[in-house]
Amino acid sequence: MKKIIGLMALALSASALAAPKAQWLTVDNEVLAKIRPKLNKSVQTLYSAQGASVVKLAPAEVEKLSGVIHDELHRCGGFISHESYEEAQAALSSQGEMYFAKQAIFADYSIDQAALVAPMVAQVDEPTMRSTIEKLAAFNTRYYRTDTGVKSSEFIRDTWASLSSHRSDVKVELYKHSSWPQASIIMTIEGSEKPEEIVILGGHADSISGMFGGSSRAPGADDNASGIATITEVIRIIMQNDFKPKRTIQFMGYAAEEVGLLGSKDIAASYKKDGKKVIGVMQLDMTLNKGSADKDIVMMADYTNGSQNEFLGKLIDEYVKVPWGYSRCGYGCSDHASWTANGYPSSIPFESTMEDINHKIHTPNDTLQNAGGDAKHAAKFAKLATAFVVELAN
Ligand code: BES
Ligand code: ZN
Repeated sequence: MKKIIGLMALALSASALAAPKAQWLTVDNEVLAKIRPKLNKSVQTLYSAQGASVVKLAPAEVEKLSGVIHDELHRCGGFISHESYEEAQAALSSQGEMYFAKQAIFADYSIDQAALVAPMVAQVDEPTMRSTIEKLAAFNTRYYRTDTGVKSSEFIRDTWASLSSHRSDVKVELYKHSSWPQASIIMTIEGSEKPEEIVILGGHADSISGMFGGSSRAPGADDNASGIATITEVIRIIMQNDFKPKRTIQFMGYAAEEVGLLGSKDIAASYKKDGKKVIGVMQLDMTLNKGSADKDIVMMADYTNGSQNEFLGKLIDEYVKVPWGYSRCGYGCSDHASWTANGYPSSIPFESTMEDINHKIHTPNDTLQNAGGDAKHAAKFAKLATAFVVELAN
């Protein structure tokens, strides 16, 4: 059932992309002032609060906004897209207050850790990543209600624990959910100077395939053994270099993403309730299958934080040196949306544009072989993710 719903959502979002559908954006006022001259004169400020404004833009104007911020603004600007005026306005009035304040206070998007980051990035090892993908894809299914789904999460926990067994400042735990058997996995490296500030690198641990979700083979090599293998490679490198961050870093494998972002919703809501200071979240979901476009890393511009996306663009230019750009899911397509919904800055660097997606996902054919047979594309994301956690957490 889920597969059909999923593919329908993809089809719907693809047609929504084609249709000229306006969007409501909340934009930082300084950014808005700078891009004003480039926008269509009919674009009006509909509401203003907390140093930001709500504007209604046509899709072409949104593309322009991303482009202008990328090319011309050498500072951190912010924009978030919303489905309706009411949603955008509410984001600025309540949760938005916390959102923009957090960003202003905590996020430092300077790039000044090259001495640490550059040697680590050089250690990304494609064969290691390939082997992790193969081990995860070998579970018959990682569906959230199956025994193998439970076992695969324990396998991820054990893998991360063995990479960090020599460190007393690191713990690896299962995060249990009350309504289904598969646990999420959380690995924590306690920050040495500002432990209350948290940087999160996550991806979903579950897989899905077929009409009845759990009954058929679901290797999920691209969706999302690739994201978990990318996170595992970042962990391996950080541990190998004995990196001790100033801020806390958490690596997360979310349960039950494929059935409605359930694991990440649970976690992000509890972090908000506890007032945890998450300064940045990166989601890795599908890093294996390179699309045909001339962009290697594609940032989803919706349900994400515009300023943090721009920061990722700069990290790619500095450390990965591959072409990158923007696309849109058109809906909250992965766990980054759970963090965004709870007021935290979140991004999802993705393997291709939405027009160019891997149609084998959610089927028994989502295998390594069908996604090119190697982890070269995924290795670029391991470099970016290493740069992200080290730069933001130090
Ligand atoms: N990895 C996909 C999301 C995705 C697919 C992003 C294709 C971009 C292109 C994710 O695992 C997924 O399947 N998400 C669901 C939505 C979720 C709310 C259940 C989907 O897209 O149907
Ligand atoms: Zn999926």
